[in-house]
Amino acid sequence: MSIVTNKLLLDNAKAGRYAVAAFNTNNLEYTQAILSAASQLRAPVIVSAAKSEVDYMGGHVFVAMVRAIAEDLPIPVAIHLDHGPDYEEAVRCLNYGFTSIMYDGSAHSLDTNISITKEVVRAARACGVPVEGEVGVIGQAADGPEGKKNDMTGIADPLECERFVKETGIDFLAAAIGNAHGIYKKKPELRFDVLEEIEKRTRVPLVLHGGTGIPEEDIRRAITMGVSKINFSTVMRKGCIETLTDTLVKNPGDWDLMKQLSPAKEKMIEIARQHIIMCMSDNKARLFE
Ligand code: 13P
Repeated sequence: MSIVTNKLLLDNAKAGRYAVAAFNTNNLEYTQAILSAASQLRAPVIVSAAKSEVDYMGGHVFVAMVRAIAEDLPIPVAIHLDHGPDYEEAVRCLNYGFTSIMYDGSAHSLDTNISITKEVVRAARACGVPVEGEVGVIGQAADGPEGKKNDMTGIADPLECERFVKETGIDFLAAAIGNAHGIYKKKPELRFDVLEEIEKRTRVPLVLHGGTGIPEEDIRRAITMGVSKINFSTVMRKGCIETLTDTLVKNPGDWDLMKQLSPAKEKMIEIARQHIIMCMSDNKARLFE
């Protein structure tokens, strides 16, 4: 199959009550692992890069790499900008050939978030590319699973979500419901009541960030409630770095870089497989044939 827009992937996922796993990537081995796991499981998949990752790999190199690997695989793949920080980065990534753009204006007031997101949607529409927006604060888990503070300030307001979706015309919504990026210090308490209300008021495919460490039963429950894309990053990097460290310690003085990197790549394949199965997207590539 080939590179597709995320809209195709997520509309299908929402209708079929599964979620597409979105994995951030940093390099060749990481990208090969994501696509290899998805291909083995015949799962649609999203390869993501945040701005720092786009800068590290080079936008053109990243897109060319994903395209080249995906070309011969029997699965649909979307190329996504994660947490785009501004209009300019969104346009740069449209130019690179991304097939999905996130603009994250959640640090701004709702009005400013709406007005910049609208501009991003307008530019992306002209290229036939869908847009993900964010409402509420999805912070770092180290700050507490509820976002910036350990109170309710990070949780998205369903009424604001409704207004945001209506006024911006975004295709997918990432709303903070008690999830956070990184390693959770304690079991995250997802606000399923808020998720239900947001789904009712917006009806667009919803995105769950901070997938690392969310228990499988919560992932499955969120999917039945309209979550159609789940982001995973830390869990892959952690598995890669731990395995690489272990391999290097066991094989000092071995300068065969491919041999030293291979176990880490295998580990990432295993982790990606586990999370694709958690999202129930295995064997769903056939829906796109
Ligand atoms: P984790 O690093 O917690 O898996 O979160 C990833 C993410 O949400 C990327 O946007």
